Amino acid sequence: MKHPLRGEITVPGDKSIGHRAVIFASIAHGTSRIYNLSGGEDNRSTVGAFKSLGVRISEEGGVLSVDGKGWEGLTAPNKIIDCGNSGTTMRLLSGVLAGRPFTATLDGDASLRQRPMLRVIEPLGLMGARIESRGGKGCAPLEIHGGGLKGIRYKTPMASAQVKSAIVLAGLQAEGVTTVEEPQQSRDHTEVMARAFGAKLEVMEERVISVQGGHKLSATDVRVPGDLSSAAFFMVAAATVPGSDLLIQNVGRNPTRSGVIDVLRRMGAAIEFVNPREAAGEPVADIRVTGGKLKGVDIGAEMVARTIDEYPVLAVAGALAEGMTTICGAKELRYKESDRIAGMSEQLRRLGVRVEERDDGMRIEGKGRFDGASLKSYGDHRVAMALAVAGLSSRGGVEIDDTACADISFPGFFALLEGLR
Ligand code: S3P
Repeated sequence: MKHPLRGEITVPGDKSIGHRAVIFASIAHGTSRIYNLSGGEDNRSTVGAFKSLGVRISEEGGVLSVDGKGWEGLTAPNKIIDCGNSGTTMRLLSGVLAGRPFTATLDGDASLRQRPMLRVIEPLGLMGARIESRGGKGCAPLEIHGGGLKGIRYKTPMASAQVKSAIVLAGLQAEGVTTVEEPQQSRDHTEVMARAFGAKLEVMEERVISVQGGHKLSATDVRVPGDLSSAAFFMVAAATVPGSDLLIQNVGRNPTRSGVIDVLRRMGAAIEFVNPREAAGEPVADIRVTGGKLKGVDIGAEMVARTIDEYPVLAVAGALAEGMTTICGAKELRYKESDRIAGMSEQLRRLGVRVEERDDGMRIEGKGRFDGASLKSYGDHRVAMALAVAGLSSRGGVEIDDTACADISFPGFFALLEGLR
């Protein structure tokens, strides 16, 4: 028997927005308060990084207070900055440090040390920063010698909010105007946040933005909405277990991020926005999901940027749906916290699902129920949580080797899931 999920829950603050709130508050002038910052390890890595750059950050009653003293308030760190598992911390911080007249080194865990950093090294180099890949082949540790930047016009080879944001953060410190064009619109949280702090940022046309360097940013308070990427695990959990009726409160639903909702609705999921409103300049709502039957769909390349972090759990939804689900144009998944195409293909097979792994995606033959299995998360938070959702529909349940990694974005995930059943 599958147990329906019923009730009301909240999920941690949005990880992407949280990083940006800490970054902009640190480089602005004045004290900003950040409400509902996720307690996840990734956001903590960004907080730790700015502390080691001399920014005073304190926490009281769950509210973060950041004393920004402008770009000049950042001082050379006296040790290597540890970005942990967080690609966003490393790439966005590279953009910040590219403009600072000192040397700093960024490092991370074994997964982060394998992730491609040339995508930021190259544009930041064109702007005038010197970044050495100490790990070789464009990988971390990165030694950044910043300062003396000039604005550029740059076309990113891939849709990446992290790359776009690194260039914008460098552009805010550069002489003249910096323009970034991307092949597909990636999440625009940096644009929203930069403007809230007073940056001169313009959307020139679809997928093209410009920033002017040299403007002072001013402190502002940020109320971080709940993370749609975290909510997605519960959305799929509820949508795939008949009888479920779940309200996930206060979730961000920025259209540049909400591909998962469109895909699940196409699969036949009943998802409703309750009380739509705004927080931190971002659209927010309570999301109600009721359980039923899903059908397989094609998730095309046009969905990639808006859906990027939700493929592991969508693969589980596809595996539980009736018929075939295909994912294509999503090769970027191979460069995330783990190779999510290889990893999810292998784990779904262990659950008895027929999966064809492709270079840029997967073809998944849906089946109503999984076999019980012993599974691997590869230390990847989103894989671990997606597999837990799969476990709800397996005969005899699943065992996952490493679940602690969920703390990267969602401390308390397993207790919350268990509590609902
Ligand atoms: C993020 C952007 C995405 C996403 C990551 C967070 C961000 O990465 O996968 O989890 O906060 O900007 P890319 O922009 O590199 O695709």
